[in-house]
Amino acid sequence: MADIDTANLVLVNEGHTLQQALFEQIREKILCGSWLAGARLPSTRALASELKVSRNTVIYTYEQLLAEGYLVSKAKSGFFVAVTPPDQFLTTVSPISPTPQGTNNSPSNRLFSPGIADLAQFPIKQWNRYLQRHVGRSSLLGNQDLQGLLALREALATYLTSSRSVECCADQIIVTSGAQQSIAIALLVTQSSNATAPFLVEYPGYRQVVKVLELFNIKHDYVKVSGGSGLDVDSVVSRSATGVYLTPSNQYPMGCSLNTDQRLQLIEWAKRGKRWIIEDDYDSEFQFDSRPFRSMQGLAAQANAADQVIYIGSTSKVMFNALRIGYMVVPKHLAARCLEVKDALSGDTPSHVQAALADFITEGGLVRHIRKMRRVYEAKFQVMTASIQQYFGRDWVVISQGAGLHITVEWRSNVDEVLLSTQAEQVGIVVRPMRFYQPAQNKIMLSREPRNSAIVLGFGNASMDDIAPSVERLSKLYYDLLDELE
Ligand SMILES: Cc1ncc(COP(=O)(O)O)c(C=O)c1O
Repeated sequence: MADIDTANLVLVNEGHTLQQALFEQIREKILCGSWLAGARLPSTRALASELKVSRNTVIYTYEQLLAEGYLVSKAKSGFFVAVTPPDQFLTTVSPISPTPQGTNNSPSNRLFSPGIADLAQFPIKQWNRYLQRHVGRSSLLGNQDLQGLLALREALATYLTSSRSVECCADQIIVTSGAQQSIAIALLVTQSSNATAPFLVEYPGYRQVVKVLELFNIKHDYVKVSGGSGLDVDSVVSRSATGVYLTPSNQYPMGCSLNTDQRLQLIEWAKRGKRWIIEDDYDSEFQFDSRPFRSMQGLAAQANAADQVIYIGSTSKVMFNALRIGYMVVPKHLAARCLEVKDALSGDTPSHVQAALADFITEGGLVRHIRKMRRVYEAKFQVMTASIQQYFGRDWVVISQGAGLHITVEWRSNVDEVLLSTQAEQVGIVVRPMRFYQPAQNKIMLSREPRNSAIVLGFGNASMDDIAPSVERLSKLYYDLLDELE
């Protein structure tokens, strides 16, 4: 077997040590087949002088490649490309088969559970290949950068800039174990020890935020969101608060969005009073009615107020919930403090998964999947709204916009939303009553005001064929309850 020509080895060591850069280069050449099995590598001395690096750099790199199974060494003859590199070896292992849709019986995965992506459509085989590419890398076994792998942060910065108009660089990104951890970090870093003003949250709203506020005893207050007019922006900007948590592009669970004027008012309020906006952009990739609003973070950057915004994103909707990877984009001056909190809460995020995700994003897999899923979810949304129309006529009104993975409906009759949800669960349909998203009665004065009953139905993981029959079943339950009342 011929000796390898190393003339086209280019060492780019941005953010890496020379040893890491050389390791990645050689590994890549072996994996893509340009360095054939059995071919001999130059001696450590020859390669060091060719690349103008120290001989130790080459020796340690060869040792690492040897340890990970990419190279073999033969006494007195040198180093050779292994006949079966570890990644190929790993790909011969049959991939873990995905759980077929419907067999995972966790309540959160059942029909119409809000917040679950279409698990059957996820390209699991492709994802397994990315995982296998990295899972054998012993260099990823030790503690890693608490902020997240640089490769992933760079991939996310490019993705967020182009798809969500977020203005950021990799230094501002912190990889987390999902939006939930990002929310906890954001709320903790925005508290100053002498804060007397409350942190504002939407109601109805995402319960997971209130759990953090209560756990850490953070003073908070509520801002109303209604189906017709959305968030009560005037009530926010007239208050003296530390900040506000928002889902501006698809309010959870009411499904409305803030227009540009409202966003600018909130940004101005934050800028003027040095207050915080925590922007949870959890499912903005899926907008069907209109073009997605750009992020508030991007808008704030244009208004010279990006220092007041913490942007939060998650892979739960664009990939799958169990991945447990999210990210936050923070003003540069806040990054160190966020890392202190992340360190205290959890330490680093699993590195092999981060490496696989970085490749999935940079090689275009994520954007391709999102593009496909936008069409899938739009089609499901259409079937949902058509089925609701067919079985409920004017009795049920869809109040959410065409976006995301859920639909919110309300009705005026006296049918109790909690009772309907309980009965639905008994026949395997999980819908969430609006009360689930409301703070306890004693927490707000306004909760006693009359409102229509409402429920939230997730359609992300419902199969197309199941939607209409399940809406029909719901309508039977609803009209039986209505009959009992009359
Ligand atoms: C409002 C909101 N934010 C964020 C998330 C994602 O959270 P995580 O990344 O912790 O899965 C969800 C999931 O349902 C959500 O509803």
